Amino acid sequence: MFTRIGVIGAGQMGAGIAQVIATAGLSTILFDAQTDALSRSIEGIHKRLDQAVEKGKLDASGRDQTKRNLAAAKGLNDFADCDLVIEAIIENFEIKATLFKELDSIVKPDSLLVSNTSSISITRIAASTSRPEKVMGVHFMNPVPVMKLVELIKGLQTSTETYDAIVSFCERIQKTTVLGIDTPGFIVNRILCPMINEAIFLVQEGVRPEDIDNAMKLGTNHPMGPLTLADFVGLDTLLYILQLLHRELGEDKYRPCPLLTKYVEAGWFGKKTGRGFYSYA
Ligand code: CAA
Ligand code: NAD
Repeated sequence: MFTRIGVIGAGQMGAGIAQVIATAGLSTILFDAQTDALSRSIEGIHKRLDQAVEKGKLDASGRDQTKRNLAAAKGLNDFADCDLVIEAIIENFEIKATLFKELDSIVKPDSLLVSNTSSISITRIAASTSRPEKVMGVHFMNPVPVMKLVELIKGLQTSTETYDAIVSFCERIQKTTVLGIDTPGFIVNRILCPMINEAIFLVQEGVRPEDIDNAMKLGTNHPMGPLTLADFVGLDTLLYILQLLHRELGEDKYRPCPLLTKYVEAGWFGKKTGRGFYSYA
């Protein structure tokens, strides 16, 4: 079993992943290329833990222990003694591959390196390291502390030992796993992203976002409408996933809606930048 876990990328996913692992009692270090993002992220985790105590969902000693379990890393060298490193940085193959290559030269030879990618080929990410059998996809859902699912994806090279160790780890952090295949978007995003894209086409055709969201919430019992969810996921991430589905599966049905591309060009990434289909204070 892993005793020290590293998480790289302290955005909405990395923060949630680190929180869940530290809450499960494991020593966790978190890193981000942007120092201010890292400190904001740790502050956010502390705030959520404090709120959990206020709501009576966590006792004060559990909160204090969780805070002690979590530390900010100063750089990638701090990951040298991690048994498992979870990458949750920007959804871009070249940037992820560069990071995996660097980590491969830093962490212990028997450590596992996994990616939280939403869509990118695990086989391709694994091939950027000298330990492809120790690489796999471990796809958490947003918001990580709330969502029960983790989608697991084996690359062509992933060993059974790696898979088994990750299944045990997910049990330890109290997540339920499903096994996807290494195809663009795996299971969840292959189905979810085209639906959200279709909702954006409707906006482009003149339907109001709130009407689309209410239709899907009240008409199909979705907890969030597709446009609220798009803003929540991040329109930059959504566009990258759709571009990859379109390019690699080669079918027009995955073509990103031009309006989505425009929003991303404008820097309207959704909740994280304060503007997307809705405005956020
Ligand atoms: N981080 C941590 N916890 C959060 C949170 C966040 N961002 N947002 C809400 N929560 C917690 C709240 O603190 C609250 O916790 P308690 O029950 O302990 O009080 C709980 O979630 C419920 O929150 P709310 O009552 O405020 O709101 P809600 O009932 O509307 O639920 C939601 C919020 C859980 C986010 C719900 O709207 C939902 O399930 N939305 C859909 C989420 C979804 O589909 N996620 C998958 C996205 S796709 C993906 O992740 C894959 C990918 O690669 C893109
Ligand atoms: P985000 O934009 O909130 O955060 C990404 C973070 O990565 C940023 O803080 C950025 O500074 C950091 N970063 C970028 N390059 C880096 C590098 N080379 N080294 C260290 N840090 C770096 O993004 P997010 O929504 O947290 O998504 C992260 C990953 O998780 C992506 O691969 C995404 O596809 C995946 N994912 C996202 C969701 C979602 O709903 N947003 C759900 C599941 C999986």
